[in-house]
Amino acid sequence: NPLIITDKEQMRKWSRTMRSQGKTIGLVPTMGYLHQGHLSLVKEALKHTNVTVVSIYVNPGQFALSEDLSTYPSDFHGDIIKLMSVPGGVDVVFHPYNLYDYEKDMKNKNSNVTSDVCKNLEGKGEVASCLEERGMGHETWVRVDKLEKGLCGESRPVFFRGVATVVTKLFNIVEPDVAVFGKKDYQQWRIIRRMVRDLDFSIRIIGAEIMRDNDGLAMSSRNVHLSAKEKEKALSVSRSLLGAKSSAANGHINCRELRDCVIQAISEAGGRIDYAEIVDQESLQLVEEIKSPVVFCVAAWFGKVRLIDNIEINP
Ligand code: PAJ
Repeated sequence: NPLIITDKEQMRKWSRTMRSQGKTIGLVPTMGYLHQGHLSLVKEALKHTNVTVVSIYVNPGQFALSEDLSTYPSDFHGDIIKLMSVPGGVDVVFHPYNLYDYEKDMKNKNSNVTSDVCKNLEGKGEVASCLEERGMGHETWVRVDKLEKGLCGESRPVFFRGVATVVTKLFNIVEPDVAVFGKKDYQQWRIIRRMVRDLDFSIRIIGAEIMRDNDGLAMSSRNVHLSAKEKEKALSVSRSLLGAKSSAANGHINCRELRDCVIQAISEAGGRIDYAEIVDQESLQLVEEIKSPVVFCVAAWFGKVRLIDNIEINP
């Protein structure tokens, strides 16, 4: 059974003990409510290192005040059971209560109080995150200038600095040799790789393939909020992306046309498009024709749920 560590100093101590015994450490950062996608990352980590840490932490720094921090699903007990089912096993679940300074004082308080503060401020601070609302005592952010703009960065302006910052903290606390991220969050994966390169973290970043339900829907913790009808509608995303990939393979390399098809299919199914863009796999810059490796990224709303998905196209 995994050891559960909730204190960041203890986490670092554990890692350093492992390191002193010559063991290599793998880290899989998550926000919990685990599914097979998360577990596939754990299995990937197990291939590369001697011991594995899974972090479970819903990071207020990456949610804007108007976003779904207060309704983000959680099931810590269920998560532990799922992690126990992974052959080879997870060594530590890092579930910090004191990752940010403000949390130390919150330990014995009702956390709903602060969620309500966030709710009341909805709409007032598009560029503030839930952490800023709570987080006196934190003022340092990691930003990846170009990559964090566009795609999800467009409609979620505080998201990636929140991600890059919390991942930096986790890296500094766990001190892993390898960390695994899913390509489901393609822009996030690219941003973390770039950050590690630019800031000389001595950590190998591995990208894991997208895990899907049998019907093609990309697994996501947020899928639990979809009704059966919305789920059916959401299948238009993976289906139209697959369609675009086969069109491209048949010589249709014009991105505007491919994009129009996908937008039409998702809209007709009842989704509200946030973006649908074909970008270079490395730079995430828009391309007009598919002549080099690209990734077709989509974000769309189904009811109150915003889903993202993507497909790599290698001509
Ligand atoms: P979360 O959404 O919980 O995802 C944790 C990791 O699981 C991410 O690397 C994500 O890309 C991966 N993942 C999610 N769904 C997947 C799927 N269907 N197939 C493969 N991998 C999948 O992403 C975050 O949390 C947070 O932003 C985090 C990195 C933990 C920072 O707070």
